[in-house]
Amino acid sequence: QQIQWFPGHMAKTIREIGEQMKLVDFSLEIVDARAPQSTQNPQIMDMISVKPVFLVLNKIDLADPKQVAKFVSKNKNQFAGILTTDAKTGVLSKDFLRQLKVNPIFAKLSEKNAAANLKALVTGTPNVGKSTFINHLAGKNIARTANTPGVTHFLYWIRTRYNLIFLDTPGLLWPKFDDQEVGTKIGILGGIKDTLLASDDLALWLISFLQKNYPTAIATKYKIGHFPLDNPVAALMSITSQLGMRQDFESASQRLINDFRAGKLGRISLDFYGDDYLED
Ligand code: G4P
Repeated sequence: QQIQWFPGHMAKTIREIGEQMKLVDFSLEIVDARAPQSTQNPQIMDMISVKPVFLVLNKIDLADPKQVAKFVSKNKNQFAGILTTDAKTGVLSKDFLRQLKVNPIFAKLSEKNAAANLKALVTGTPNVGKSTFINHLAGKNIARTANTPGVTHFLYWIRTRYNLIFLDTPGLLWPKFDDQEVGTKIGILGGIKDTLLASDDLALWLISFLQKNYPTAIATKYKIGHFPLDNPVAALMSITSQLGMRQDFESASQRLINDFRAGKLGRISLDFYGDDYLED
């Protein structure tokens, strides 16, 4: 089925981002490191590219390091920089700032604005960890100051503890997924309300994906001896019975997805690049 989700305020938010670009020095596009391509918003790239864009691969602790390395090596020229963060653990702030400071494009921006705070637009699809990321850099007493400068309804200026000011945006999706698999991945990563999606569809996709690319993950986690590698439906039935959920495939599906989201199946990337990915 088509996954579509685009509340009215999204269009207005995007318009406001366009209007505010002249006020920021650069953008931070936060993505989920497990799907750094699929969680990029194709709708705003042209708009935000008028200033340097740094791609921030958050939840790096949950991603497959090999796949992250492949993505970075292939895409590094598309961005002013690709940075990695784990916003959940407190070690984030210093490491993120260190990565930013050694970046030549950022260094140039700092030099030019030596006397002032740099302003960054912060975007991201829902659930990539954007709020966690901002909270870490802003500290406990996060002050959302609307409307200065320029009147915005959906964007908020946030002062951080460092000489950075963020322009925060609501979690953004786009009206239609050209590639349905992108919608499925965002769903599995928690970017679309679970109630809008059929969890067993997501689970069956995830099972097929894992069987192909991480063939021991499910068997290890759910202690299934004879795992039907070529049959996702049979695999879901095995997981369901192993979890003691009888015929409740819906609950078993949700459990599998939650376990995946929390990293309980290991460090797994959904944007998965084969061995030939590095060759152009
Ligand atoms: P959003 O603003 O982009 O929508 O995302 P938000 O910060 O609300 O984060 C979504 C979930 O991702 C939260 O988990 C958050 O703790 C978790 N998270 C954020 N950054 C990271 C990271 O770098 N690594 C890991 N492992 N998790 C991260 P939650 O289950 O919704 O809440 P809770 O478990 O923190 O209570």
